[in-house]
Amino acid sequence: MLDNPETTNTLARSGRNPTRAQELSAEYHAVRSATERLCEDLSIEDFVVQSMPDASPVKWHLAHTTWFFETFVLAGSGRTHRDVLPEGSYLFNSYYNLIGPMHARDKRGLLTRPTVNEVSSYRAAIDLKMGEMMHSLDDKDWHQIAPVIQLGLNHEQQHQELILTDVKHLFAQNPLRPAYRNATNQALLAAEVPPLGWVEFEEGIYHIGHTRNEEFCFDNEMPAHRQFLERFSLGSRLVTNAEYMAFMEDGGYERPELWLAAGWDAAKQGGWNAPLYWEWRDGGGWRSYDLSGMRRIENAEPVCHVSYFEADAYARWADARLPSEAEWEAAAAHLACEGNFVDSGVLHPVSCDALPGIRQMFGDVWEWTASSYAPYPGYKPAPGALGEYNGKFMCNQYVLRGGSCATPRSHIRATYRNFFPPDKRWQFTGIRLAKNS
Ligand SMILES: [Fe+2]
Repeated sequence: MLDNPETTNTLARSGRNPTRAQELSAEYHAVRSATERLCEDLSIEDFVVQSMPDASPVKWHLAHTTWFFETFVLAGSGRTHRDVLPEGSYLFNSYYNLIGPMHARDKRGLLTRPTVNEVSSYRAAIDLKMGEMMHSLDDKDWHQIAPVIQLGLNHEQQHQELILTDVKHLFAQNPLRPAYRNATNQALLAAEVPPLGWVEFEEGIYHIGHTRNEEFCFDNEMPAHRQFLERFSLGSRLVTNAEYMAFMEDGGYERPELWLAAGWDAAKQGGWNAPLYWEWRDGGGWRSYDLSGMRRIENAEPVCHVSYFEADAYARWADARLPSEAEWEAAAAHLACEGNFVDSGVLHPVSCDALPGIRQMFGDVWEWTASSYAPYPGYKPAPGALGEYNGKFMCNQYVLRGGSCATPRSHIRATYRNFFPPDKRWQFTGIRLAKNS
């Protein structure tokens, strides 16, 4: 890669800043390796199966993230002839209509070929080409291509989270409820959490969104703009399993007055009576599946795997509401981006500590907001196929904030906008309450 003297000399001759090039190359290697480490404990059978249309096989994630670099970086700059896995341009295109036709999303699990080994070779071949390309770019190319490589790396981190959530969903369908990895969270678990408090924020004009600077951000975080907020309060921590069980025991899933109409329909059609992965065992109470296997519900842990509809109904039952995304961002803007991310290895939300102030804003679970996913004032998608990355999904979805226990720490920030349809539950999604002060 770029960390040897010969490479440094090559970069120096090209007139490019070798430090910057080395940093990007090192980042590329780190992100690609992190994806592969997530797969270390999987068996070959685990790579292929698709448990539902929303989820993808691990093999497909590995290939699609590679296709992204091949398509938008190498082919986009005339540096590949698609000679490694030519059929990949059709099989591993996710939703980029401007690139061309693609294999049906709900049939990704039928792709027993190319094999896992062939996909692995495809990754290695594209990594080699990427390494060669990063050696050879001149300054003009660098300024055009480095941002696309950054986008590809952040895209791959999004798929790292999806690998975990999709494997979790897949393993949960297996009667054996196999463990993906041994848990390390028991030692971190507090038996009790501090009582829910309220942290108040003054009315005023707040700066929302990302100001373009050296730090990477997605286009949906821009433009930065001002927004007036009335005085509001946010819950001092996430809603716990014990609090959510109180909602369940009070008939929360059987009281239509608590639910949005679409939510009531989704709950009835889906047979919901608890968060996803919860199972009632006669004599054993509620248990749930996590990536370490089945275990009993811990009262102090944040409730997880609830839909927007459930979060909204819970908030109404609790005489509160969900925060808007602007309220969430105003509260998070000056906090350190610290929390229980994938880097901790826990792979499950953990209970809140007893420190003062607003806690658990980052990590643990994505927090549903009451905000529909919509463009910020003045938003313009990028030209060309990369403009399909975010903008075309700004309809019928809700914004989530803060990252989860499956999100890489280096991937998240206060302005980050995740989004999912309101009935989805397989991501690590939870609840923070808000109210008018
Ligand atoms: Fe993707």
